Amino acid sequence: MTHLDSSWSPVAWRDGAVILLDQRRLPMEELYMRCDTVEAVAAGITDMVVRGAPAIGITAAYGVALAARLGWDRDRAIAVLASTRPTAVNLFWALERMRRLSPNADADEQLAEAVRIHDEDKAICQAIGRHGEVLIPDGATILTHCNAGALATGAYGTALAVIRAAHAAGKRIQVIADETRPYLQGARLTAWELHKDGIPVTVITDNMAGWLMAKGQIDCAIVGSDRTVRNGDVCNKIGTYSVAVLCKHHGLPFYAAVPVSTFDLTMATGAEIPIEERPASEVTSFTGTRVVPEGVPVRNPSFDVTPASLVTAIITEVGIARAPFEPSLAALAAQAP
Ligand code: MRU
Repeated sequence: MTHLDSSWSPVAWRDGAVILLDQRRLPMEELYMRCDTVEAVAAGITDMVVRGAPAIGITAAYGVALAARLGWDRDRAIAVLASTRPTAVNLFWALERMRRLSPNADADEQLAEAVRIHDEDKAICQAIGRHGEVLIPDGATILTHCNAGALATGAYGTALAVIRAAHAAGKRIQVIADETRPYLQGARLTAWELHKDGIPVTVITDNMAGWLMAKGQIDCAIVGSDRTVRNGDVCNKIGTYSVAVLCKHHGLPFYAAVPVSTFDLTMATGAEIPIEERPASEVTSFTGTRVVPEGVPVRNPSFDVTPASLVTAIITEVGIARAPFEPSLAALAAQAP
């Protein structure tokens, strides 16, 4: 199985339950978790069984459909699912789509809307790939951070969609995946997907990127976004901001590849975005081994904001936005269905 098209997804609806690939177990084992209660779906999001902005939105939509089957009040289900993770706006966007269904929508109609959200995301990711691929020169070495791949979306990815499309177009590209401390989405997930697809990928620790750029061994960076605000600030996995600063210093393009569902044009700047703080244990331990002395406090902000001034372009399913971002993002938002 590869992730080169839209046939592979980390989320599915099967036999009245939400099925999630347990991303916490990758790359060691490919285990699927069956969630047949709303609480299990919510825990799947909070505990990062499923993660990545579009994928958690899709999962939450299926969670609402499941709630309808179980006789839950829709608003109650939406409230439970909305309290799982605060940063990715796709979660709230998908829940809002479910909330807007007619109050009389039955369980089948709610499931049909969740399937539509899922199918639309698959098509959106393909379109992001088509739009972004033109920015990638033949022979490029591309740095990516975290996992904005098939695992993070309905299928195919956003940043990795651009990479997949460039690869499919016959460009001889290479990918450098930041390991992405502390949760290792780059080392565990991006490397897993790309390696399976036969796209050349090399993992580095996060602190190696600057040196490789200084040596001329990276040509551009592409990342995803969990929330893209009016002035073009993008919010993505912690460490993305550092990558963007390094790109600026070395004169390299820094791209964000995002579905329009990550736009939050109600926010003027990234300063308004709620940044999730994850458990300290993700920092104090590394693969189960304690690496910080007992009693020493740690910080674990899970996302950071990259200011628009460091962003070369924002690639979406309806086109590419460049500075000044306020009008260019508004124009793209108006084109999105
Ligand atoms: O904490 P995670 O793994 O859910 O964070 C995911 C990211 O930061 C991704 O880069 C982002 O959601 C974009 S996915 C297309």
